[in-house]
Amino acid sequence: MKKIIIAAIAQNYVIGSQGTIPWHSKEEFKHFRLTTTGYPVIMGRNTFESFGKPLKNRLNIIITRRPENKYKFDELMYFTDIKSAYNYCESANYEKIFIIGGGEIYKSEINNCDELIISVMKFEAEGDTRFPEISKDVWEIAAIKETAEFEVYYYSRKN
Ligand SMILES: NC(=O)c1ccc[n+]([C@@H]2O[C@H](COP(=O)([O-])OP(=O)(O)OC[C@H]3O[C@@H](n4cnc5c(N)ncnc54)[C@H](OP(=O)(O)O)[C@@H]3O)[C@@H](O)[C@H]2O)c1
Repeated sequence: MKKIIIAAIAQNYVIGSQGTIPWHSKEEFKHFRLTTTGYPVIMGRNTFESFGKPLKNRLNIIITRRPENKYKFDELMYFTDIKSAYNYCESANYEKIFIIGGGEIYKSEINNCDELIISVMKFEAEGDTRFPEISKDVWEIAAIKETAEFEVYYYSRKN
């Protein structure tokens, strides 16, 4: 099972501001939707709260230290650590899963996953949450896709 981080980052690595993404790009959201639909999406509680409801057509998994605090949506799954979420998805035979943020979860998983799919927006942004360093010792660019508003960098692990 491939564990894939997917994120959209500004040129200065900002990904969030006061609990939301500090820009709105329909095209980027479409790229995110098309890439992740059909697969589990694993996220920190703050990221779930930024959406306010489950992402459609994907198993939504929330990582929280307080799983007793449930949201009103029945289809959500909760895990108190990411490893248990991975184990669940592995046992459910998913071919791949997406780690969709936010800052805290990216930081813990950046060197613990198999691929990165990073949309780099064509601007800098102000915010309080940043994507962690993408180490050149660990990651290499496998492909780049150019779009009008951003470039998508596909990273794979160096052998
Ligand atoms: N640009 C992008 O692609 C993108 C993507 C996603 C999110 N974002 C942005 O990122 C920001 C949110 O990021 P964030 O760093 O504040 O929060 P986050 O990573 O979404 O969630 C943090 C929460 O996850 C839980 N958690 C984290 N690590 C855990 C662990 N090891 N074990 C158990 N639970 C754990 C905790 O929940 P509890 O407090 O419930 O214990 C923690 O408070 C928002 O601004 C959002 O819009 C941007």
